[in-house]
Amino acid sequence: MTPPPTPAVASPPRARTVGAPMGVVATLRHALRYWQPHWRIAAVLLVMLVVPQSYKAFFAYSQRLIVDGGLLGRDAATLVRTVALLGLGFAAAAVATIAADYLGARAGAAIVNEIRRRMFGHLQQLSVSFFAGARSGDIVARFTSDLADIQKSLTTRVIDAVFATVGLLINVPVAFALEWRLALVMVLGMPVVGLGTRLFGAAAAAARYALKQQEAAIASFVQDTVRVQPVVKAFSLAGRLVATFESHLAAAAQRFVRAEFSAQLVGSGSALGVLAVQVLVLGVGAALAFRGTLSPGTLVAFLALHAVVSKDAYDLTKKVVPALIASSGGLRRIEELLAEPVAVADPPGAKVLPRVTGPIRLEGVSFAYPEGSRVLEGVQLEVRPGERVALVGPSGSGKSTVIQLLLRFYDPLKGRVTVDGVDLREVALASWHAQVAAVFQDSMLLSGSVRDNIAVGRGDATQAEIEAAARAAEIHDAIVALPAGYDTEIGEAGGKLSGGQRQRIAIARAILRDPALLLLDEATSALDPATEAAVSATLDRLSAGRMVVSVTHRLAAARSAHRIVVLAGGRVVESGTHDELLARGGLYRELWDRQSGVAVSADGADARVAPAWLESVPLFAGLDEDARSALASRFRARWWAAGETVVREGEEGDAFYVIARGKVEVVVAAGEAARRLAVLSDGDFFGEMALVDDAPRSATVRTLFPCLLLALARADFQQVLAANPELRARVHAAARSRRGGGWTPV
Ligand SMILES: Nc1ncnc2c1ncn2[C@@H]1O[C@H](COP(=O)(O)OP(=O)(O)OP(=O)(O)O)[C@@H](O)[C@H]1O
Ligand SMILES: [Mg+2]
Repeated sequence: MTPPPTPAVASPPRARTVGAPMGVVATLRHALRYWQPHWRIAAVLLVMLVVPQSYKAFFAYSQRLIVDGGLLGRDAATLVRTVALLGLGFAAAAVATIAADYLGARAGAAIVNEIRRRMFGHLQQLSVSFFAGARSGDIVARFTSDLADIQKSLTTRVIDAVFATVGLLINVPVAFALEWRLALVMVLGMPVVGLGTRLFGAAAAAARYALKQQEAAIASFVQDTVRVQPVVKAFSLAGRLVATFESHLAAAAQRFVRAEFSAQLVGSGSALGVLAVQVLVLGVGAALAFRGTLSPGTLVAFLALHAVVSKDAYDLTKKVVPALIASSGGLRRIEELLAEPVAVADPPGAKVLPRVTGPIRLEGVSFAYPEGSRVLEGVQLEVRPGERVALVGPSGSGKSTVIQLLLRFYDPLKGRVTVDGVDLREVALASWHAQVAAVFQDSMLLSGSVRDNIAVGRGDATQAEIEAAARAAEIHDAIVALPAGYDTEIGEAGGKLSGGQRQRIAIARAILRDPALLLLDEATSALDPATEAAVSATLDRLSAGRMVVSVTHRLAAARSAHRIVVLAGGRVVESGTHDELLARGGLYRELWDRQSGVAVSADGADARVAPAWLESVPLFAGLDEDARSALASRFRARWWAAGETVVREGEEGDAFYVIARGKVEVVVAAGEAARRLAVLSDGDFFGEMALVDDAPRSATVRTLFPCLLLALARADFQQVLAANPELRARVHAAARSRRGGGWTPV
């Protein structure tokens, strides 16, 4: 698999903005849409909300009956009847309120889970390119903090809003029935109540969205820094990261103040409006009563009713609206995720592939990653039935990309990928994937048991089939030795499984599928030589009779393929058998010579450089045979684990390195990130400047795989040169001239 791109730990947050800012009304509309599937509960809930609101209206109205009829009119029967009705009303309101609370909670749980289900389901359908560009912290934030934000407003606040609206719908007509002049004053005052929303609503929603984006950026930043800790350590980036984090925090604080303040302004502006109308109604009411055109009972009743209306209006403006605004940012971010297009989808009437026999072809395929430059150009590739094809070539030549196109992670820009003559674009993807198995460099075990991990290969496999696959992959005995055998959780087993064993589990998973096409992308590259030889032998055995495309940077591993295809710069430059390609004397020959000049012992513990190999290093190009032999004998081999820093930018260099096996990346610090200059593998070298210059290292070299490196210490080198001053001068001249060249010597 492609080595992970050099981590940029402080890149600006990637904002996937598709939606427009969501105001209060839009948020409410979206929220109500989520309620649609639960309309039955919603209908019952609505009835339950009408009951207490009607009771409140009656309670207010009853004051006129009590004051004017009962007290002033001395009518005991009216008093008793009214109080009895109030008691009944109260009981009904109490039952309805409790029922509404319960129904609200149930609908809330269903709605939120439904959103989660939709988001997760949608996420699984998104293309590989979405994940290549997305920051996982941002996605997780949409599931956690954004969803938590909207959970309350989608349920409780929507119910509150409906409750208050129902209240207004009931109480306003009652108010008119009670006293139309005061009701008119009340209604004419209503627009003042909406003033806060009108003035600040849009700004408040935008501010909230900005805050949510910033919070997601912080989550992503933290996650990124956790992921790239080795780089952080290697480059001493901690101080800079803390500074960047501080600036994130400052931005978050600023956005929080803006979002919170503007949301409260909306609420407070409206709430003040409510209070103003209240004073107005009281004033007008008192004046009318004073003149005798309004009975005291009606005034008392109207003021009670107006208190109910005011409370509803106040709740709506001061509680519900700010809460809806607060959730609009999260809701918009969730809707954005759901709106993310599914890139590779089955066409209508997609063909279900019968058992694939071959051939599989790439026909004139050109490809570029989204927002990237051309990676493949007119690639022609054929895998005939039963044929094993090896893809080799320099790092970045497009080998893994070919694998991804065969898996239809992407579609080609030009040309087509065909299986038994059918364009992959016309195929039901599941029917193709069921016949392909891929093993990557990193076996990517999922959480769950060992059995689950193998059964991923075929959901309906029996225990006997799973065991047979594990035996074929030669991992059965190791699994049985685990504490709970096949039921051991991968998390627990992870530490107890070696890299080779994990890779074998991935192979068992592939075998279980009995694939027509087996794809191997550096499947054995991260293993030590002894394990690699054993796993390779297993793979060779299992490959027999199948179509196989294997990617490897190690040519010795490609040697036995029926056909070797050499990629360079996204084009097929050569293809043929190992012997044919050697005879051609092209790129393959060059790579082969370079790799075979460094011999590794069978157990992988030792390696040596062939004197002739030194010819390929410009610095040593002019050395005579004796000097070359003397130098070659001074190289010392040592294993490095994956992720180790061999050479650190800025430090003094004291050795020159040749890669006997493995893969390293050459990176330089660029601002707060690290920029990758090159990826080097078997037969490549680095660090030659240290031999001739006192200058500090110009880049950092980190191992991507476990590496066997051969080191030539500066002191050893100087000793050899000391015997030959003329040569020494030539070496220095060569080093100086190289420095002007393209790639910076380390
Ligand atoms: N997801 C991606 N988005 C954009 N560019 C990519 C992506 N993956 C790979 N590339 C680029 O495409 C080119 C080919 O990459 P690819 O991974 O196919 O090379 P490779 O031959 O497998 O290399 P290696 O031997 O290092 O694994 C490289 O230039 C790489 O930077
Ligand atoms: Mg690759």
